[in-house]
Amino acid sequence: MATTTSAADPAAAGTWTMGDRTVKRMGYGAMQLAGPGVFGPPRDHDGAIAVLHAAMAAGIDHIDTSDYYGPYVTNRLIKEALHPYPASLTLVTKLGGRRNDKGEWLGAFSADELRRGVESNLENLGLNQLEIVNLRSLHGRHAAGEGPLDEQMETLAVMQQEGLIRHIGMSNVTRKQIEDGQKIAPVVCVQNAYNLANRADDDLIVWLADQGIAYVPFFPLGGFTLLQSAELDAVAAEVQATPMQVALAWLLQRSPNVLLIPGTSSLVHLHENIAAASLKLTAAAVARLDAIAG
Ligand SMILES: NC(=O)c1ccc[n+]([C@@H]2O[C@H](COP(=O)([O-])OP(=O)(O)OC[C@H]3O[C@@H](n4cnc5c(N)ncnc54)[C@H](OP(=O)(O)O)[C@@H]3O)[C@@H](O)[C@H]2O)c1
Repeated sequence: MATTTSAADPAAAGTWTMGDRTVKRMGYGAMQLAGPGVFGPPRDHDGAIAVLHAAMAAGIDHIDTSDYYGPYVTNRLIKEALHPYPASLTLVTKLGGRRNDKGEWLGAFSADELRRGVESNLENLGLNQLEIVNLRSLHGRHAAGEGPLDEQMETLAVMQQEGLIRHIGMSNVTRKQIEDGQKIAPVVCVQNAYNLANRADDDLIVWLADQGIAYVPFFPLGGFTLLQSAELDAVAAEVQATPMQVALAWLLQRSPNVLLIPGTSSLVHLHENIAAASLKLTAAAVARLDAIAG
């Protein structure tokens, strides 16, 4: 496609600052580097390492990961490929989950589990301090549900004071949970499910933007089920881009505090996604895409 080949630049959509970490708005999500079902080693180890090298070579400076992808697989791949890290790279990880030997996703929300999670992330990433840690709520699967997170935020705040964590973010959370969390520690980013077909967080994004807080959608392309829409396909054909590029460009135009971490294990998709940072949609195209969510 025409937009994928020339001068792909993740900075083309500008930057945003989380705490004292400034990142390009187009980043990379590492979850897809683990094996099938985000469990076990990648099908193609060297291919996964090549994607990470290519992301850095293309100028990506924000990578989202977690110790429970694999488990430990994506963090260890990141360390193998990229350590020692350039000062410009911001690695964002998350806490709150663990995997059993069947690959099931389980909670890890006690103070002990959160501390062990930080220590394990530090070891597997080869860091002395985690730059940003998202506390991932379990009060809802892939849509936030109400429930208290105060004890967990307090545990993270203690580890922040100890210097193990630089900044705290929250994931899969409601506005109330964020407001409660902000009483305990500053929240620099929020990572919830959002894309052009799932717009439950429209108001939340604006509320966060007003406070200078980043909103980082997970499942920006639909996650395990890719976005499908005839209108999306039609707009993509008109602007000579792929539907997934248009979905990313729409997110970038949604609000300046929206930072992207599309996940891929494919070099081709990586470059397509980065090129989407340069794709400008007209107001008319945005209006047609807005209508997809109904
Ligand atoms: N906080 C949380 O609870 C949470 C939950 C889920 C994910 N995350 C984070 O968010 C990141 C993004 O979410 P995600 O990876 O689950 O979903 P996503 O980015 O919406 O979609 C990933 C899927 O899209 C495919 N894909 C990527 N680029 C494409 C392109 N240009 N054209 C066609 N297909 C493309 C990938 O397959 P290929 O590998 O074949 O490209 C993969 O199947 C993750 O990597 C992870 O870091 C966080």
